[in-house]
Amino acid sequence: MEVKLAECAGFCFGVKRAIDTVYEQLAKQAETGKQIYTYGPIVHNEEVVRELEQKGVQVIDGEAGLDVSAIDGKTQRTVIIRAHGVPRAVQEKMEQSGLECIDATCPFVKRIHRIVEKAGKDGYEVVIAGNPGHPEVEGIRGWCTGPVKVIETEEEAGNFTAENGEKVCLVSQTTFNYNKFQSIVEIFQKKGYNGNVVNTICNATEERQRAARDLAAEADVMIVIGGKNSSNSRKLYEICSGECAHTYFIQTLDDLHLELPKAVRLVGITAGASTPNNLIEEVQNYVRINF
Ligand code: F3S
Repeated sequence: MEVKLAECAGFCFGVKRAIDTVYEQLAKQAETGKQIYTYGPIVHNEEVVRELEQKGVQVIDGEAGLDVSAIDGKTQRTVIIRAHGVPRAVQEKMEQSGLECIDATCPFVKRIHRIVEKAGKDGYEVVIAGNPGHPEVEGIRGWCTGPVKVIETEEEAGNFTAENGEKVCLVSQTTFNYNKFQSIVEIFQKKGYNGNVVNTICNATEERQRAARDLAAEADVMIVIGGKNSSNSRKLYEICSGECAHTYFIQTLDDLHLELPKAVRLVGITAGASTPNNLIEEVQNYVRINF
């Protein structure tokens, strides 16, 4: 029986960079003595967050509506902004309250912040294709300098009317579905909007999904490793389930209760963007040794 890992699996560039930033700060902590916080969990993976907590890194609850008051009064401390980014007002508030603010926003997300900031100044209404409750979208919204609307479905795109006449700048959440984005672009074109369309979907998501689909199509059993709150991991599970009837979704090795059907030739493994390498290796080794 063969065990194969999908071509792209686990941490994406932006998440790896953010976690590396936390470890760099931890290394400096002996000198600076500063308490380290992350604004919201650095990654949607409880294992990683727990490990950092054991090293003294505390999480400020930025998730609940990105509440700025959560950081009030905490001075002489370092706060790390995670890959999703935060609204401009939140970053400014942190800086004004004397916190050392380290921005680990993924450069691909930062690019969207710059696009929407400029678009508003140039008189465009910004439309973000994405999930309005997602922190990344909250962050993007918070860098807009003019009218902004978040739409998630083709139906919402059909019902949309621009406030500012026809000048519309359309961007997407980095993890938005590509086909859905294309449909929204077509709906906007039919409406005749003088659009500035920027596809800001991140390749890491597409690549990971394509690799998962390819592997699931040939595998007899598929294992998807990811945090239960991680939407990209859940998406991988959906894709793999569509190709392979025996697909398991696990957070850690403890969740894996494998019942392999007879005559299994290939077990495929993939992992969401927030899953650390050591966890992937652990699962891989377990399946290799025990089956
Ligand atoms: Fe950045 Fe793409 Fe990851 S936007 S955080 S590299 S999924």
